Amino acid sequence: MDHAPSSRIKGALEALHWHCGDPMSFFAVIFALLLVPFVRSAFLGDIVARQSSSISLANSEWIWQDNYVYNSWIGLRKDFTPPLGKSLIAAEIVATVDVYFDFYVNGNYVGSGTPPARTRFSNRFCVDLEPSYNVFAFNASSTGGNGAMIATILLTYSDLTTDTIVSDASWRVSDAVAGFEQLSFDDTAWPAAVVRGVLGDAPWDDVNIPADPPVITFDRVDWIWTNAIPASGQIPAGSRAMRRTFAPFPGQVPASADIIISMDNDYTLWVNGIQIANGSGFATAHHYIVNFVSTPPPTEIVFAILGTNAAAGPAGLLFGAEINMVPSDRVGCIAGSFVVSDVVWVSTKGAIPTGWEQPGFDDSDWPPVVSEGTYPAAPWDTVKIGAAAPAINI
Ligand SMILES: *[C@@H]1O[C@H](CO)[C@@H](O)[C@H](O)[C@H]1NC(C)=O
Ligand SMILES: *[C@@H]1O[C@H](CO)[C@@H](O)[C@H](O)[C@H]1NC(C)=O
Repeated sequence: MDHAPSSRIKGALEALHWHCGDPMSFFAVIFALLLVPFVRSAFLGDIVARQSSSISLANSEWIWQDNYVYNSWIGLRKDFTPPLGKSLIAAEIVATVDVYFDFYVNGNYVGSGTPPARTRFSNRFCVDLEPSYNVFAFNASSTGGNGAMIATILLTYSDLTTDTIVSDASWRVSDAVAGFEQLSFDDTAWPAAVVRGVLGDAPWDDVNIPADPPVITFDRVDWIWTNAIPASGQIPAGSRAMRRTFAPFPGQVPASADIIISMDNDYTLWVNGIQIANGSGFATAHHYIVNFVSTPPPTEIVFAILGTNAAAGPAGLLFGAEINMVPSDRVGCIAGSFVVSDVVWVSTKGAIPTGWEQPGFDDSDWPPVVSEGTYPAAPWDTVKIGAAAPAINI
């Protein structure tokens, strides 16, 4: 089952083990974690070890630029200086944008939104901070009138107290000019952000937040199949190979993936070339947990699914995964991203080649799959999520 937070933290520590090298520091970290939720440890440098926080967007607002020009790139900036006597060490950030973003802290690239335009699925980032002055900056763009960013930044001080920054009218917004994400950039002439709503407001509605342990849903996930769907909608019987590659952001080391999968009709699932499961049916999704324990840890996660339509008629794949990652230089903050079935997946045009499920396989000439509708689309309607199978270490 492996669903207790403590075992997840252990998984993260195991992933860290390769990095530390020294088994004594590894056990020392576990010992420290068992004793206290918050630990600052000298032997690994600037380390904050604690369980993944329950960071929320409940008090954050959707903000954007006034009179936004569609498809232009804007900068959203928040400068933060701690109160006198306080020294910052780290931040945990949950953020999403309708539609695209690149996120920077103190001019350093941290990560981006989940393509394509998956506003519903936020990302969770872990960063180290400067002791005093820090700048959080989004380079963001939207294709239409729904442009908006929502974020919560949980700050940790050296005394292990915390503070929270939310997206609100105190952020500054202007056109993304060169260097706007840098610490040295002067944004005092930039206008205040315009508040467009709060969490739950249309058109963005709710936002899924990577958590430890993950809570995955199919909300706003697409049923997908290959691009070979006849006009009749009657998909011929047969098998199709589908692939999706996820590349962690800089400094993130994959620790685990929680996967839910529903298939009309049969599937085989590989993760990084290793067969994880076989299954059938869409009424109840199957739930798998994969821990990445290999040394060195994977630098990308490749999901490969062979889907089989048993008889002519509807066929489709509904897939959701949350990938949790530990920063390579620090314990205690679990970064996370979602990978769901969408038109970023690709599928073979012709015969299924040997080795297609392997991470190194070149799928660059495979066309994107098509969306057959967003969950809970007919004819599949509501899908239950089954209990997790025992975790698989790869
Ligand atoms: C913002 O991102 C876009 C798309 O990647 C890029 O073209 C643009 O140069 C970026 N702007 C700045 C100021 O970094
Ligand atoms: C999947 O099915 C094949 C044959 O049908 C079997 O050999 C294989 O062990 C199965 N794998 C898993 C992970 O269940």
